[in-house]
Amino acid sequence: MHTDIEPAGARCLVTGANGFIGSHLCDRLIDMGCKVFALVRRSSNLKYISSPKIEFRFGELRDYQSLQKAVGDIDFIFHSAGLTKARNKSEFFQVNHLGTQTLLKAIPENRKDLNRLIYISSQAATGPGVSDEPSNENQTPDPVSAYGRSKLLGEEEVKQFAEKVPYVIIRPTSVYGPRDTEILSFFRAASWGIKPHFGNRKSILSLVFVDDLVDGIIMGAFSNKSRNQTYFISDGMVYEWSEIVDCLLAAFGKKGVKITIPVRLFHLIGWLTENAFNLVGKTPMLTKEKAFEITCDNWGCSAEKAMRDFGYSPRILFKEGAVMTAKWYKDNRWL
Ligand SMILES: NC(=O)c1ccc[n+]([C@@H]2O[C@H](COP(=O)([O-])OP(=O)(O)OC[C@H]3O[C@@H](n4cnc5c(N)ncnc54)[C@H](OP(=O)(O)O)[C@@H]3O)[C@@H](O)[C@H]2O)c1
Repeated sequence: MHTDIEPAGARCLVTGANGFIGSHLCDRLIDMGCKVFALVRRSSNLKYISSPKIEFRFGELRDYQSLQKAVGDIDFIFHSAGLTKARNKSEFFQVNHLGTQTLLKAIPENRKDLNRLIYISSQAATGPGVSDEPSNENQTPDPVSAYGRSKLLGEEEVKQFAEKVPYVIIRPTSVYGPRDTEILSFFRAASWGIKPHFGNRKSILSLVFVDDLVDGIIMGAFSNKSRNQTYFISDGMVYEWSEIVDCLLAAFGKKGVKITIPVRLFHLIGWLTENAFNLVGKTPMLTKEKAFEITCDNWGCSAEKAMRDFGYSPRILFKEGAVMTAKWYKDNRWL
């Protein structure tokens, strides 16, 4: 992997280090010879932080003092902490927007020469494509969920601080791979031989295998050209939903039965799930808004800017990545 800035020896703080993306990122930074500091909470499950070379810094995005201490001697901050699910809409804003703002406020006072803040945003911050074409970074953001709006506000905070804190914004598409709990339910459905389709429409989407995303994040971080820029990261493809379910079934060696779920029924299921979880005070797996987001027609995006600016070159297409992920789920008895 070519980078303009030498990663070996760089002091890197990873927020959300024990999460799905953060843990893979820590592993790779260690392999590249970086000194890695994992920002985690006292309550965090540290199962996937495996390397003894990683040092912990305890912190919480809503606790300014803990962040002040964490950023002191750092060269690169990979800000991956965030909520992808929440008990209510306000929680998304508390963490993804205001938590990011708190982190940004802690940097100029405590670390004047930070090389780069890498903000792990999301394609959801842009929202679905506005035409039949995949989105690119020039599309005016119009998120369709509280999650997406909170990530967009996080991006806006990052840009506000640009003079004091150089940044790169990475917007991953849906990410899958070992340790992921979000797309797991689609793998589970495939393992049961179910081919879910939402209505009869042709929808498109982009995806990225977690190892490729980590490549993109690292190449973006250590590139001179990426300073104060925003990038989509995908596997470079735009898939039809039917191709995705076929790859999932193939990963389990199944033929599958097509089950068409009317879009409105799926929205209703989202609404019912949300209310049922709210009643018992738990974080819903699916909400009405999430169901709406999933059923938008165009979640395709282009990673060409990252390819052009820093040579990002994804290696794993969904057909292969689905097999690798299904194997991991089976080996680890998640399925
Ligand atoms: N997964 C995807 O498909 C995807 C796609 C696009 C963008 N993203 C973005 O990528 C980032 C990482 O996502 P992920 O899939 O790795 O999620 P994840 O597995 O749920 O990890 C989230 C991490 O954030 C930490 N965190 C949450 N609230 C925090 C707080 N108040 N203070 C400190 N840490 C906090 C969690 O710590 P605890 O374990 O202590 O809760 C965890 O380490 C997120 O910002 C997300 O928006 C994810």
